[in-house]
Amino acid sequence: MNVLILGMDGYIGWSLGLHLAEKGNKVVGVDNFSRRRTVEEIGSWSATPIQTMEKRMHIAKAIYQDSLHFHEGDITDYDFIADVLKSCEPEAIVHLGEQPSAPYSMIDAEHAAYTQQNNVIGTLNLLFAMRDYAPNAHLIKLGTMGEYGTPPIDIAEGFFEVEYNGRRANLMFPRYPGSFYHASKVHDTYNIMLACKIWDLRSTDVMQGVVYGTRTHEINPSENPDMCTRFDFDEVFGTAINRYCAEAVIGHPLTVYGKGGQTRGFLALVDSIQCLTLICQNAPDKGEYRVFNQIDETYDVTSLARTVKKIGERKNLAIRVNHVPNPRKEAEEHHYKVEAKHLRKLGFKPTRTLEQELDLMLDDLLGFKGRIKEKECAIYPKTTWQDGKRIIQSSAPMNRN
Ligand SMILES: NC(=O)c1ccc[n+]([C@@H]2O[C@H](COP(=O)([O-])OP(=O)(O)OC[C@H]3O[C@@H](n4cnc5c(N)ncnc54)[C@H](O)[C@@H]3O)[C@@H](O)[C@H]2O)c1
Repeated sequence: MNVLILGMDGYIGWSLGLHLAEKGNKVVGVDNFSRRRTVEEIGSWSATPIQTMEKRMHIAKAIYQDSLHFHEGDITDYDFIADVLKSCEPEAIVHLGEQPSAPYSMIDAEHAAYTQQNNVIGTLNLLFAMRDYAPNAHLIKLGTMGEYGTPPIDIAEGFFEVEYNGRRANLMFPRYPGSFYHASKVHDTYNIMLACKIWDLRSTDVMQGVVYGTRTHEINPSENPDMCTRFDFDEVFGTAINRYCAEAVIGHPLTVYGKGGQTRGFLALVDSIQCLTLICQNAPDKGEYRVFNQIDETYDVTSLARTVKKIGERKNLAIRVNHVPNPRKEAEEHHYKVEAKHLRKLGFKPTRTLEQELDLMLDDLLGFKGRIKEKECAIYPKTTWQDGKRIIQSSAPMNRN
């Protein structure tokens, strides 16, 4: 199968590219390397060292021969993405090429505008290019569970039955984004749904939970550090789980934001790759827009920190959990129940639990302790939702555990 991966230099993109090549697909990747630049801009780097794309492709070529190709370019440039579609003739397009950080989008007007322009216009260009040059391809778009926010009812898988004034209908489940990044994903959702309706495109919009992990079947940082995918741990690009693991490794207290009852869905990288591969193999009909919720386990951020502490202590790491003032404006205690049945119907079975994966992640990160320590100052939260500025929190952490 010909698969185009937009954002192949990224965390999921690199892992997926290697896996699809390993499975015998012809993979073409695209990236503009913006993630490398934005992480550098905020004064951090990936804990795992990332090779240049040139070196990555050189190593991959030795293993997968001619299965993996790469084009540098920006999908907000319509001519570029149109040319890629014409030359690659993809059957599936996995679109990961967006600015993925909520805090980054909240820094100031410029960062919010960059995020929305990059994400919304990039996706819009792709939809027009698909209409003109790849109308039969299957678009697999990475949305986020954060599109739904934390409503006080169970979260349906994209659509749900509602009754209003005596009439019933199957409508899109409401979206309540919590940042300008999440709002960009919601705008994408509407644009993709519209394109399927008016141009008969086909798409699976994946509302994905937080992905974590350092390993896949093809990537093992302890055995081959040159093949690593990225692992960010700073306050802007690091998710809570990445931050906690990095903090555990260098003896920094785990930074739980606010009361710590914020609950989210999580899945291991290896299972995210399994899901995306399965979706590539199972395209919807032409004109169909479908939504898959993709999470394996749910945790609140305090339980998550306690789990990291438990696994870390087995490795003789001394770990403290601190509650720090929450830089975000969000519910700190709330209902959270998510329907996620579609992927299981296609045959998806999770292969790793959080505890199993944490065990591997901590081992891998201990090998990069020096790199984490060097950027320790990038961990503590500075980017707030309140006034749009990056402020050094002056208040002392609330030490609760
Ligand atoms: N990692 C997670 O936990 C998670 C959770 C939910 C959703 N997602 C979504 O999945 C996708 C991939 O996430 P990730 O963690 O791999 O992010 P990432 O930043 O590591 O990867 C995205 C890649 O896309 C590239 N890119 C961005 N804009 C581009 C453009 N205009 N043209 C070309 N390339 C561009 C970046 O340089 C980067 O390499 C994102 O859309 C993200 O919002 C990720």
